[in-house]
This record gives sequence, C-alpha cells and structure tokens, in this order.
Amino acid sequence: MSVVVVGSANRDFVYRVPRIPSPGETVLATDAAPHAGGKGANQAIAAARAGASVEFITALGSDADGDVLAHELSQAGVLLHARRVDAPTGTAFVTVAQSGENAIVVNSGANAHLVEVTAVERDIIAASDFLLVQLETPLETVVEAATVARAAETVVVLNAAPICSLPERLLAIVDVLIVNEHEAIALARDLSGHRMPGETLSVDAAHDIAITLREAVPAVIITLGANGSIVLNRDMGDGPAAHVPAFRATPVDTTGAGDTFCGALVAALARGEDLVDAAQFASAAGALSVQRPGAAASIPVRAEIDALVGSLGRSRRG
Ligand code: RIB
Repeated sequence: MSVVVVGSANRDFVYRVPRIPSPGETVLATDAAPHAGGKGANQAIAAARAGASVEFITALGSDADGDVLAHELSQAGVLLHARRVDAPTGTAFVTVAQSGENAIVVNSGANAHLVEVTAVERDIIAASDFLLVQLETPLETVVEAATVARAAETVVVLNAAPICSLPERLLAIVDVLIVNEHEAIALARDLSGHRMPGETLSVDAAHDIAITLREAVPAVIITLGANGSIVLNRDMGDGPAAHVPAFRATPVDTTGAGDTFCGALVAALARGEDLVDAAQFASAAGALSVQRPGAAASIPVRAEIDALVGSLGRSRRG
C-alpha cells in the first residue's frame, strides 16, 4: 500500500548548546551544523526508511537549500513532487540542549506557498492508500488534501503539530490523530472548553484526554516521550486505551522524534499492522532517532526498527 505525505520541508540549522537560552540570554554553542528537516520531509523520509512506498508533495525555493533537500529526499527513496516557488526554502533555527531537548523557530518561506492542491496532486492523493499531513503548511491546504483523500477513501492521518485550533470540517475527515502531550492538552481544551491538567500528562491523564479526543475522531494516539504512548480507537470504545511503553533510550537530540514516530506508524499501517502494533513499531523508530543528531539524519531504517522490536520479544522471553 502506498503513502502520500503533504507538508513542509526545511533546512535545519542546528546549534548544540549547554542549555536552551532563556529570554534575553545569550549562550555559546559547542557545535553548529545544517541538516535536512521540516515536519513533512521528516515524516516522508521516516515512512520511506520504514519500508513504505512514499510520495511527498511540498514546496521548495529555487535555491541551494531546496536542491539539498530534494537530493536528500530522493536519496531516502521518497518520490518528490516539489513546487519550486519564488520564495526561500523553509528554514528552522534549532537549539539542542545537552539533555537532548530542543527549541525550534521556523521561517516558513516556500512552505507558505503550498496553497491550492493542483489537479496532478489531487490524483496522487486519490491514488494513495494513506495520506499523512501535519500543520506546518497553510491549514487550508491540509483541509483540501484531506478532503480529496476522504472522497477517494484514502486513510487520513493527521499529526496536529505545530498545534492550532482545528476546524470541525478537518476533524470530521481525519481517521487517525497523532498528538504529543502538549498538543493533546491544547486540543482537548479547545474541544471541550474544560480546564486541562498542567502542561504535561501522566499516563492516566493522557487516557482521559484520549477519550475526549476520541469523540472527535475515530482513532487517537498521544505520544508521551519516555512514558510511551496511548492508543485509543473506535473498536476499543471508551477504553481502556492501550498503553504502549517507550523503548529505553538516552537522548542526544529529540528533534524529529515525533516525525519519525508518525512516518514509521503510517508505514506499519500501510503494510497491514493494527494501530497498537504500528504504535509499538513507531515507538522503536522514535527511540532510535533520539540517540542520533539531526532530524532527517537520525531516522532509522526498517531493519534497525525490526531488530529493536524483536529484542523486546527476546527480553520478554528471556
Ligand atoms: O519536528 C521537527 C522539525 O520541526 C524540524 O526538522 C524543523 O524543521 C521543524 O519543522
């Protein structure tokens, strides 16, 4: 089964710092390097490396950064459909602390020009089995792509990152929603109008929020970093949701870990795995990615992910 990703591509400029600077503070980086990134590109590469046949619809500038990204995507086995627009390729300023945590500022550039899905792009979406979208390109384009997908019975997977208020007409056509804990809290607050607990979630609180989000979409995954992920779909009714534990990892750079999870998840769904098994595969992919620097550069291939999932079975048996 095939996957199409519609979304952003950025050249990431990654600065390794002792800590993420506070407002008004200057910190000295220990290292700086450019990497391929952007949520859409990372997810397309993750799905391809995890074994899916992937097409990627994006917008790049007619500049050297655009050429570098186009090359990296095709090296990863992604079939690229890039509009080359009259704007600089998207860039991201990424600071990565010693703990592996990051803070990112994105200059959308060409990504803001991914508007109005063309006839050719519609055909590509309609011919695919899965559509994977995020929110780093104009929201109207995401809604349009999802609408085309829904009409063609292509499964719509939305990673609601970076989070914004989601129109009902989008939620009505999403099949699988993937959010991290911060996005889950913001979205649940938006949907229910209720106060939500803090800015981080325990597994139990995530379970409650998954039930709230499940009222809006058929299936929800909330990723919780070192606490794994919560999976709730229509077949499970109001729960209990499945808790998929995280694989042990010592992070050096968490940039793109969520994207790796999303791409790997869709690759697993595309070869017929159920949502819980796909989340376990995706969780292994995410754990591998945080142990290497860079976003796209850190994304593992299927053999590595399978080996880590397999090691879990062996340690359970042993
Ligand atoms: O999700 C990580 C990505 O967010 C980075 O690669 C950066 O480009 C921003 O889009």
